[in-house]
Amino acid sequence: MPRVSIRDIQEMKGQGKKIPVVTAYDYTSAQIAEAAGIPVVLVGDSLGMVVLGHDSTIPVSMADMLYHSQAVVRGTSRALVILDLPFLSYQIDADQALRNAGRALQEGGVQAVKLEGGQRTAETVRRIVEVGIPVMGHVGLTPQSVHAFGGYRAQGRKKEEALELVRDAESLQEAGAFAVVLELIPGALGRLITKRLDIPTIGIGAGPHCDGQVQVFHDILGLFTDFMPKHVRRYAEGFETFKSALEQFIDDTRSSAFPSEDEDLSMDESIIKEIEEALT
Ligand code: KIV
Repeated sequence: MPRVSIRDIQEMKGQGKKIPVVTAYDYTSAQIAEAAGIPVVLVGDSLGMVVLGHDSTIPVSMADMLYHSQAVVRGTSRALVILDLPFLSYQIDADQALRNAGRALQEGGVQAVKLEGGQRTAETVRRIVEVGIPVMGHVGLTPQSVHAFGGYRAQGRKKEEALELVRDAESLQEAGAFAVVLELIPGALGRLITKRLDIPTIGIGAGPHCDGQVQVFHDILGLFTDFMPKHVRRYAEGFETFKSALEQFIDDTRSSAFPSEDEDLSMDESIIKEIEEALT
């Protein structure tokens, strides 16, 4: 079966079929996402926080993204895999953006890239799309600009700001983006943008009316516990579940309950005896 394509994603909007998207950063998380039937996997630069322990996505490099994307691609055969272009890998000029988007496909093995920004990045999006690389846009709270925003703050609450966000999303569609992420904006604004665009909107903290929802793997599975954004719904308590499993392992090791006979390789005791005799 071929991978899900950007055309499939766009058809889902046409058919009113919601699009679930989750991040993945390695072979195993990608396999779990795919086994669950997730059609689109994003190798998000959020890996800087939930996998590498940085306090923002800014330190993430292109090398990090390629390394993790390769593992995610190996862990999937059906899902559309998107590489999130990291901070300063596409903002310098369109040539730099094109080169890194190309590396995402050639070296990372992904099928599409995502980049942050609206009207200011539309020309860059156009250049990348022109050479045949599918691009997903990202507007609203764009985490690579956290310091410019003065924190992880909701966007588009005021009329002028909201109008700019509509224009941002429309400029990305006009530039050829195949979908756009809307992050941390009021649900009513998410609804308006979704209605105005032909391409799918994928929300994260942007209300229920978006064409799809994206969540960070470690957030929805309860693996990342440093903080929990309001828009996260935890579907598992991964941290607690894994912690108690490891506590059990500690107890079993200390009490010699692990490994059991069944978990041991069998060997004829007479061989051991013969070795002991040979060693005396
Ligand atoms: O990096 C990321 O995980 C993202 C999503 C949250 C949209 O950009």
